[in-house]
Amino acid sequence: MNYSRSFPHARPRRLRRTAALRDMVAEARLTTDDLIYPMFVLPGTNQRQQVDSMPGVERLSVDLLLAEAEQLLALGVNSLALFPVTPAEHKSLLAEHAYAEDGLAQTAVRELKQRFPELILITDVALDPFTVHGQDGLLDDSGYVLNDETTEVLVKQALSHAHAGADIVAPSDMMDGRIGAIRQALESENYIHTCIMAYSAKYASHYYGPFRDAVGSAGNLKGADKKTYQMDPANSDEALYEIGLDIAEGADMVMVKPGMPYLDVVQRCKQEFNVPTFAYQVSGEYAMHKAAFANGWLAERPVVLESLLAFKRAGADGILTYFAKQAAAYLNE
Ligand code: PBG
Repeated sequence: MNYSRSFPHARPRRLRRTAALRDMVAEARLTTDDLIYPMFVLPGTNQRQQVDSMPGVERLSVDLLLAEAEQLLALGVNSLALFPVTPAEHKSLLAEHAYAEDGLAQTAVRELKQRFPELILITDVALDPFTVHGQDGLLDDSGYVLNDETTEVLVKQALSHAHAGADIVAPSDMMDGRIGAIRQALESENYIHTCIMAYSAKYASHYYGPFRDAVGSAGNLKGADKKTYQMDPANSDEALYEIGLDIAEGADMVMVKPGMPYLDVVQRCKQEFNVPTFAYQVSGEYAMHKAAFANGWLAERPVVLESLLAFKRAGADGILTYFAKQAAAYLNE
């Protein structure tokens, strides 16, 4: 034997030779427990509408939502995030409909809870579906979104969701101090079990376009942006500052949004705080994947699963994704 040639002693490929070996050393894993399905709720009964910019996503009235929830539970998807599609007559300057007892979100929560008590229901706390201008809060005369006045309405909205039976309220508005105000109100009204999932690091992103089509707020916004309250995509130290504030104010879990372009923020968040950390693979991320699949440019099944596994590797404990149902079906195969 000629030993004079030197061979590598380190051969990382040893552990990649068979599927069993690869699985044995896999660091991150995606399961159906990681998936949260965002759903758009329509008024009325027997209403079903496609969202043009999100192929495969539908807006559903509450009765159809119940049937869908049953299928999701059967697939192992146990949590839903609800987004109401508010009719124009329920939009106003003061967003009063945000905390209506018989509002769409409140009604959906009540009916879903009654039928499927084990389902985890997450509600969106933000005023944009209820304002005539599509901003997430109340405006002053110059069009600036008022912080503390908005927070007062958000508190009423969160309480109405808790009252309806929401397991988790999820403020997505980015007002300062709202987590503390909501937590205090929930405690004083004895909703001590209601969790808060804070959209802590929510960026002023153009990846939200298809969502705004889906809930019909794009037309109200008329091209205006949300840069005075959502974060600048240039920043990640600031994200850690925001996340730290929300935890201190009483958030049970935190979120980074959008997802894939912001995995560095997810990773920093998990490393720094070690709290339950979620990420939102937003509408624009879904739309661009779907467009590539439709054109045959990317292979759907493996890319959907890879895109979600990447969140787990970065440190996310769960992912809000429009692929939840589809991915669960793949995982169950
Ligand atoms: C509203 C809200 C938005 C999303 C979730 N809640 C849009 C926005 O801030 O304009 C976006 C979700 C997505 O794009 O999938 N507060």
